[in-house]
Amino acid sequence: MLKIATYPQPILRQTAKEITEFNQELRDLAVEMSKIMYEDNGIGLAAPQVSISQKLVVLGDEDNKSFTAYVNPEITFFSREKVVNEEGCLSFPKIFGLVKRSKKIHLKYQDLDGKLHKVKIKDFTAVVLQHEIDHLNGVLFIDRAEKITEGQDLLEALKAKI
Ligand code: CO
Repeated sequence: MLKIATYPQPILRQTAKEITEFNQELRDLAVEMSKIMYEDNGIGLAAPQVSISQKLVVLGDEDNKSFTAYVNPEITFFSREKVVNEEGCLSFPKIFGLVKRSKKIHLKYQDLDGKLHKVKIKDFTAVVLQHEIDHLNGVLFIDRAEKITEGQDLLEALKAKI
C-alpha cells in the first residue's frame, strides 16, 4: 500500500527518473496513486510523493472519480502572464502559501500506453500541473511561495529537522 511521503523526507528533493516501460505495473501504480490522492482530498499527485522516484503525475478529473495520468511530462512553454493562487500539498499537511505561476503552458507528455501528446493548458489545470511537475524535479511549492499563509510555525519546525 502506498503512503504519502511528507516533508522533509529526502525523496521529495530527488529528480525523478524517466519512465521507459509502459506496462501493467505502471497502470497499477497510476490507479493506486489516484486512490490515495482522492482519499486525502488532493487534486494532483506526483510519484515522488509516494516515495517512487519516477516521472509520473496523476490529476483528478472533474467527476472526482477518474484521473488523467501524465508520464514523463515536460513543460515546453510558460506564459509570461502569471496568476497567484493559494497552494497546498499532500506532502505538507496544514501548510498553505501563495505561489505565482504561469497562466498558460504548453505540455508534452506520454499517456499510460506510451503515446505522445502535445497540449495547451490554461488556468487551474495549468497551475496544478506546474506544481506537480515541480515535484519530479525535486522542487516544492515552499520554494516558490511568496508568502506562507497558513502553518508558518509548522513549516519552521519541519525545516529545523533537516
Ligand atoms: Co505537491
